[in-house]
Parts: sequence; structure tokens; C-alpha cells
Amino acid sequence: MVTGTLSLVAASLTVANLMHAPAVVVSEGITLAAAAQVLDQANVGAAAVLDGAGRLVGMVSERDLLRSVGHHIDPATTSVADVMTRDPVTLHISDPVATAMRLFRERRFRHLPVIDGTRVAGILSIRHVVRVAQIEQVRPAGSAPSELAPRGLEGVAVAETSVGDVRGEEGFFHYRGYNAAELARRCSFEQVWHLLVNGELPDASELAVFSERAVAARRLPEGVADMLRQIAVLPNYTPLSSLRSGVSLTAAALGTQPTLDLSPEQTGADCLRIAALVPVLLMRLHRHHHGQRPVDPDPDLGYAAAYLHMLTGTRPDPAAARALEQYLILTMDHGFNSSTFTARVITSTGSDIGSALTGAIGALAGPLHGGAPSRALAMLDAIGTPERAEEYLHAEIQAGQRLMGFGHRVYKTDDPRSTLLREVAIELGGTQVDFARHIEATALRVLEQLKPGRRLYTNVEFYAGVVMNSVGIPRDMFTPTFACSRAVGWTAAIAEQAANNRLIRPSALYVGPAPPREIPDGYGVKSMAATSAHP
Ligand code: ACO
Repeated sequence: MVTGTLSLVAASLTVANLMHAPAVVVSEGITLAAAAQVLDQANVGAAAVLDGAGRLVGMVSERDLLRSVGHHIDPATTSVADVMTRDPVTLHISDPVATAMRLFRERRFRHLPVIDGTRVAGILSIRHVVRVAQIEQVRPAGSAPSELAPRGLEGVAVAETSVGDVRGEEGFFHYRGYNAAELARRCSFEQVWHLLVNGELPDASELAVFSERAVAARRLPEGVADMLRQIAVLPNYTPLSSLRSGVSLTAAALGTQPTLDLSPEQTGADCLRIAALVPVLLMRLHRHHHGQRPVDPDPDLGYAAAYLHMLTGTRPDPAAARALEQYLILTMDHGFNSSTFTARVITSTGSDIGSALTGAIGALAGPLHGGAPSRALAMLDAIGTPERAEEYLHAEIQAGQRLMGFGHRVYKTDDPRSTLLREVAIELGGTQVDFARHIEATALRVLEQLKPGRRLYTNVEFYAGVVMNSVGIPRDMFTPTFACSRAVGWTAAIAEQAANNRLIRPSALYVGPAPPREIPDGYGVKSMAATSAHP
């Protein structure tokens, strides 16, 4: 992603000075295999797609082709029109390079077609712009910043990490280099937990030791059980806010110390203890709130089965426990997401793990992050019947609403988590799954129609709600369940931050009234005293 500024010379350039010309073009009817050959021969990353009359109708890139292969689409029989980005955003040959840079930055495009009149004159690649972008020099401490990072820090790398990464364009994310969806297909929660916090998948004896430690870590610290009972009956109880309080007081009861003062081993021990306790706290709060006796975690059950057992009091069906386990593995970590960033910012101050986890839960609570799965199900309820889908979804988008469970800041293709969760949901079966698939297909069609070129796909939250509902998790426990698995990712990030720390303290570009302003008369301490009722 382009994050630099333009030098004076580059700032005077137009798109025409940098673009690849003439544009490499293909017709919309040709196959993916033929398009791949054209890109290969021209040695470019993207081509403009033209209709029979020579008008621009789309863009096709190497990434589209790669993705199609990944989705088992036959390149010999599928046409470019099926995978291209339709109605692409365009540049004009006279546009300044800064305009292109802004589009690359804000909309995450990699190639843009450049138009001259009605003709495609060339293609500008992000690489062309990067070549002339001058990366901003490190400013001396104390000087005011002059360049604003993209809103929402989109595309800005703010740290190095070995925990994992998301490749949004490719629809791929990994934990320490392993394809996370594959881990969810094949591994247990404890194996992946070990991978994330210790860096490697465990062998059999390492797993046995780790699992034993994780089970032992589920024991509540002294005095917490009573306080949980009290929190659970407070007015305006919500599971997530109660969990946030529960984590905070548990960390205090454990006496977690500032990470600044801890060795990596001590930090790791605190991390394991708290991550193992999060589901225990949540389930105790839930059962107290509903007037039920809490169920202690069964040491013979793995994380996911113990989770369902603590919820219902009965040993779960293995298929349900495995479905939940796959969901939990898929949501353990996801790059530098907002809650992970929050946990790292708090850890960067040298604060304790309880503070970092409490803050992270707060960040996760927002509907734009972790708070959507119950909303996605609420949308299914509001639609009610398949026949109403089209009309309902149209009306929502036209009213400026967002369809919950669709769109993602990083994935501009299928979210691999939604792909696996769709499979898990189908395996669990049921009428709701069939209905959800119908709504998904309709929503994708309507989004393509009403929000063309935005590349909005199903995100993890859509099928997460369906899967959790199918295994018996109440709706208000969806996001808290997400918090339980994400606690593993948070703790991996916290340990990494603590091990190689630097205080995270960015700057803001001040845009308020020009300083220094005169304080109007009447605001001095003396006159305040004079007007006070108790001078
Ligand atoms: N429904 C309808 N339109 C959408 C949606 C959606 N779900 N998502 C984005 N858009 C549209 C926007 O209205 C905007 O259109 P415009 O260009 O006409 O203004 C365009 O797509 C780009 O939207 P942005 O806000 O720039 O996209 P951003 O990357 O900031 O948004 C987000 C990502 C917040 C997840 C968004 O897609 C959204 O609100 N989705 C619904 C909530 C949701 O599902 N959240 C869970 C996310 S997954 C997770 O965090 C674990």
C-alpha cells in the first residue's frame, strides 16, 4: 500500500506520464486461460476488459485469475466476464498522480484503467506510483505532523508480527505461516492455541503438557465466584459488558503485574491463565443471570466441548462440539484487527494483561468489529421468508443501511472464514441453513447491483451466527463466544508486544481553531470563585 508522500517533481506529473500505454485489453468473452496468456505475454498484472463495441466494462487482474484457481473454477471454460471487477473506477489521462495515489490508498486498488475520451489509453499500476512516491522522512521528535495517515489507518503497517497475517486480496489468512482455514479443518483448539502462543504446532507430548496446563488454568482465583454472582444480576446486564468486568476483576484477583516488570515466561503464564478463564467467567455469568447453578469446567473435556458443557450442563454432541471448535479456531486471530491493536496499544504502555484484555473486549464489542453475528441472524428473522429477500435487501441498502455479515475492510474477495463456516453450517444442516444460503446469494446479487465495484462479499459473521445458533449458543452469547477464541490471539499479540516493546504513541493532525486563542474574560479562577455559590 502506498503510504508515502509525493516529491515536488512527482506531484507535477499526471497519470499519463506514468501509466502503461497502450493499455493491455481483452474482450469479455475470452476464457481465463486465454486472459492469463495475454497478461503473461505483455508482462503486466492487469488488463482492461472491453465489450463488443470496444467500451470498457471491467478489469481483470492476475489476482482474479489466481483466486479463481483457488476456488476450483475451470479457467478453460470460464469467461473473464465471470470474475472481472465490473464497472471499475477510472482515471483520466490528465488526472494528477496525487489523485491516483489517493485512490490506491483509500480504495485499495492495485490497477486502474486510464481513460481518454471513450478510449482506454493505458493502465496505471500501484507500482508505477510507488516508484515516484517519496516515503515520508522520520520527523524530529516534537514537530507537528504534516501528513495524515489514511482514515482508519487502512493499509498502514504499524508493527512487525510473527503471529499471523491476512492477505485480503487473495482471500487467505494464516497463523504463524499455516493456512488458518486448514488448521481449523484439521486441528484441535489446543493444538492451534499452542501454535499461536508458543510459535509451533505441538508434538504429542508437548500437547499433553500444554493441555494439562490449560485445564489447570481454568480454576477461578479466590473470591471471584461471589463477585460474578453479583455482576450477573446487575440491572442492564449484558454478557459482554459483564465479561469485560469479570476479566478485569479476575486479573486483579490474580494480581497480574505490569508486563514491563515481567519476564517473557511470566507474561506467558499470565496469558495462558486469563485466556483459559475467559470462557469459565462467561458461562458462570450466563448461568447466574438465568438463575441456574454454574457448571464447573470438566477437566476431561477439551476447550470447545467444555464450553458447551458449561453452557448447558450436559455433555455435548461431538458433531456440535467439533463445529464450534472449528468456528473458535477460525476466529482466534485475524491480523492487526481493531481489538488486537487495542490490546497491543495497552500493552505498549507496560500495563498488565488484565487491562489489555479488558480493553480488547471493549473494542470487540462494536458492531463494526465483533458485534455483528447476532445482527446477521436478526436480519434473517426480519426477512422472514425467501420471497421477501430481494425487496427487503434492496430497501435496506437504498435506505443507506449496511447488510450485516457482508463487506470487510481487508477482504475484497471471499472471506475464507465464511467459506469454511458455510461448509460447517451445511454439514450441521437444518432449514435455517437453507434459508441463510438463499439470503446470502440474494444479498450478494443485490450488493453487486446497488454497490458496483465495492467488492462486498460475505464475511465471517454471516455464517458464524448460523453455526452458533445450530449448536445451541444463545444469540446474546455470540460475540462473547468470539471473545473467548480471540482471547488466544490477543494474548499471543500481547506477549509479542511485551517481548519487543515500544510505547505506541502516534500524533494527530490538529484541525481546530488556530492557536493560540485568547481565553475570554470571565474564565479566570478568580472570577469563577466570585460566581460560585460557595466562594
Ligand atoms: N452493506 C452495504 N453496503 C456496504 C456494506 C454492507 N455490509 N459494507 C460496505 N458497504 C459499502 C459502503 O456503504 C460504501 O459504499 P459507498 O462507496 O457508496 O459509500 C462502500 O461499501 C465502502 O464501504 P467502507 O465503509 O469504506 O468499507 P469499510 O472497509 O470501512 O467497511 C465494514 C468494512 C465496516 C466491515 C463494512 O463492510 C460493514 O459495515 N459491514 C457490515 C457490518 C459487519 O458485517 N461487520 C462485521 C465485520 S467482520 C469482523 O470484523 C470480524
